[in-house]
Amino acid sequence: MIDLHTHILHGIDDGAETFEDAVAMCQLAAADGTEVMVATPHRFDGIHENHPIGLLRERLAQIQEAVGDSIRLVLGCELHFTHAVVEQLCETGEGWGINDGPYVLLELPPFSIPHGCEHAIYKLTSHGFRPIIAHPERNRTIQEKPESFYNLAELGLYAQQDSASLFGKFGKEAQAAAKVLLKNNLIHAISSDTHSPRRRRPGLSQAFAAARDAVGEEHARALVFDNPRAVVEGLPLPYVPDATSPRAKRSRWFEF
Ligand SMILES: [Fe+2]
Repeated sequence: MIDLHTHILHGIDDGAETFEDAVAMCQLAAADGTEVMVATPHRFDGIHENHPIGLLRERLAQIQEAVGDSIRLVLGCELHFTHAVVEQLCETGEGWGINDGPYVLLELPPFSIPHGCEHAIYKLTSHGFRPIIAHPERNRTIQEKPESFYNLAELGLYAQQDSASLFGKFGKEAQAAAKVLLKNNLIHAISSDTHSPRRRRPGLSQAFAAARDAVGEEHARALVFDNPRAVVEGLPLPYVPDATSPRAKRSRWFEF
């Protein structure tokens, strides 16, 4: 399995606190069947410091050396979505992309879909980037109106779901949204978004099993094997079934 979203770099953000934790997270993931992990430290979120890319690569190399070839580590980042960040990406051509490729992991604000998001997505894709929205099921607006994400997805973006959402670790609303988005083909990868060897632990095998129950073997395999592997290699996703619009929840005022 390939994990596209992890916070394994020690001392960088709210992920691994120590080098030992970082190594333990990789070892747990490898023991659970993860072959590749993408380190995705937070960037431009206004909370965590943006460390130089050289330092990120250095930390990654330290961890890789400690874990040997039990697991392959590559670098990406979790970019907080703002129009300024999108402008910067398009102007400089620097994608902070996953494994230096075209896929960029973008995190929406927790409660809303920013005004003008459609235009920003269009701009990114027209500059050759392939945006992947991180854990849309945790966004309040998408929880309340999952069809709003369908409208965005139609513009050509992809989405990554957090494994813990499937098990209700981010609340019932996120869990319900996770299932709705999954069943409407609006999710293209499931990742751990691990932050520690103790809480929000690494590993994808349980999520793989849950996804298999929800959408079947072929689709579930695509979410943890085939699609994320293509992301790491910078190739087109092999499994992108047509998305369907989640039915809008009926307003209670129209219920009889
Ligand atoms: Fe994250």
